[in-house]
Parts: sequence; C-alpha cells; structure tokens
Amino acid sequence: MLKKRSRSIKYDSIQTFVFTMMGLLLFFGTACAKNIEVVDASGPCPQDRKTADAPNSIYSKTNPVPPTAENIKFGEQLYQQKAKPIACKYCHGEKGDGMGDPDFESTPPARNFTCTETMNKIPDGQLFWVIKNGSPNTAMPLFSDLKDEQIWQLVHYIRQFSK
Ligand code: HEC
Repeated sequence: MLKKRSRSIKYDSIQTFVFTMMGLLLFFGTACAKNIEVVDASGPCPQDRKTADAPNSIYSKTNPVPPTAENIKFGEQLYQQKAKPIACKYCHGEKGDGMGDPDFESTPPARNFTCTETMNKIPDGQLFWVIKNGSPNTAMPLFSDLKDEQIWQLVHYIRQFSK
C-alpha cells in the first residue's frame, strides 16, 4: 500500500516536470522569435547607449507636466523649430528616428526616439536631465535657455515617437 502511493507521487512529479519544460520552451521560443523580429525591422535598434546616468533624485522623477494635447504641441514646436541654440530635429530627425541632417551626424549618434526597446529603459527624469545639461563628450548640447516646464513638454513629445 505504501509502495503504491509513493509510485503515484513519483508519476505526478514527472508529469509536472514535463509540463513545466513544455511551458518554458513555449515561453522562450516566443521570446526569441520576437527578438529576431525587432532586429530585422530596424538596423540601429536596440541602440548602443553609454550615456551617463542622472543623479538619483532626478533619474527617478516622473514627469510633473500633464500630457495634454497642448503640452505635447509646445514640445513639438520646440523640437521641430524653436529650441535654442538649435532645434532637436537637426540631429534626432523630424520623425525622431535619429536620422537628422547629414551635416550633424556624429559619433555616438543621436538617440533614436522611435526605438521602443531602448527608450523603454530610459526613465523620464533621465531624459529631462540630458536635455537640460547635455551629454558631455557627445554632440548632444545643453539647453540652458529652456524652462523646466518646456523640458518636460519635450519629454512628452519625444515619448510619442515610440508609441
Ligand atoms: C547637435 C546635435 C543634437 C541636437 C541639436 C540635439 N541632440 Fe539630443 N542627442 C544628440 C546626441 C549625439 C545624443 C547621444 C548622446 C549620448 O550618446 O550620450 C543625444 C541624446 C539625446 C537624448 C538621450 C538621453 C539618454 O539618456 O539617452 C535625449 C533625451 C535628447 N538627446 C534630447 C534632445 C532634445 C529634446 C533636443 C532638442 C531640445 C536635442 N536632443 C537636440 C545630439 C543632439
């Protein structure tokens, strides 16, 4: 009697093991297929990124400006034409894909805001900090003329490119 019971426990655990393995295979199989698609769809995505992190208190800040149509529109105007010393589109591209004016090509290249995989790893506070202070030793300038509110409007606008 005792022997029989232990046999059926063993059988159960083999069954559980087989089902778990099948589940894992299915899960990782799907994940891999997805990865290959992303690489195929666009060359520079995910984008190699070595940008320094903002100080903790700013890095973890969430955007305090509401994402209203009006705020996004102000962000767009700055991005496409008004930001000084030079509008963002000249380096990041009109469509935010990192394909700006060839005259402004640089190494490292401008961030590709359409790359969801890279952009999802960068929190709002980090985007804010780099726009405000620039990225040293790269072409990314600092935008010290912009008010904080304008920088947050820009953050909302550039997030649109990866939605
Ligand atoms: C002269 C070219 C140039 C202009 C103009 C420019 N950028 Fe950039 N930007 C870059 C480059 C190059 C990088 C990549 C920097 C790096 O790899 O650290 C970059 C990176 C960024 C990043 C990524 C920060 C991160 O942590 O990954 C953000 C956000 C950004 N730029 C926003 C803007 C906005 C907004 C404007 C306009 C207000 C702007 N940039 C104008 C060249 C430019």
